Amino acid sequence: MKLNKTSITKDDERSMSLVSQDDNYFIKEKGININSMKIEFLAKSCNESFARVAVAAFVSQLDPTIDEISDIKTALSEAVTNSIIHGYNEDPEEKIYIETELFENDVKISIEDFGCGIENIEEARLPLFTSRSDLERSGMGFTVMETFMDKVEVYSEKGKGTKVIMYKSLNSSV
Ligand SMILES: Nc1ncnc2c1ncn2[C@@H]1O[C@H](COP(=O)(O)OP(=O)(O)O)[C@@H](O)[C@H]1O
Ligand SMILES: [Mg+2]
Repeated sequence: MKLNKTSITKDDERSMSLVSQDDNYFIKEKGININSMKIEFLAKSCNESFARVAVAAFVSQLDPTIDEISDIKTALSEAVTNSIIHGYNEDPEEKIYIETELFENDVKISIEDFGCGIENIEEARLPLFTSRSDLERSGMGFTVMETFMDKVEVYSEKGKGTKVIMYKSLNSSV
């Protein structure tokens, strides 16, 4: 079976340049996704709750526990907030792109912006690191994502944008 990639859009091309390595290792391990969806929305903070609910509703097909859904929502909020505040400096005309893929017992969610990008990803991921202490940010966003998801990958390039890919296994039935 082949992945269902019909046409490559301009956004896909931008996105591919952000993710330098082939990120298909997960597909090799977990098999082909059984369902997927993409949403895009303006970088407005009122859309953060829309994104949480939309992704949660989609993931519900896998029959996750309430805790698992709440973990995913929490992690997703952090990534979306980062794109709005850091990536786009709260420019409401910019767009955020989310792709959610479902595997048999696993979820893969990518959150992407084409904003300012991160100069030093390693430093950005450190607990308590924030470049916006003026906004009273806690610097715990990436730590929260790592705590509530099984794996978090960050791809970013200064001036081009940022793509965060988060994975979670839903173990409730095990
Ligand atoms: N989408 C993004 N675009 C640009 N920079 C980002 C993005 N996400 C995170 N960062 C950078 O990583 C830092 C750490 O993020 P995070 O752990 O969420 O802490 P906080 O948001 O409280 O600053 C941010 O301060 C910012 O410099
Ligand atoms: Mg943050």
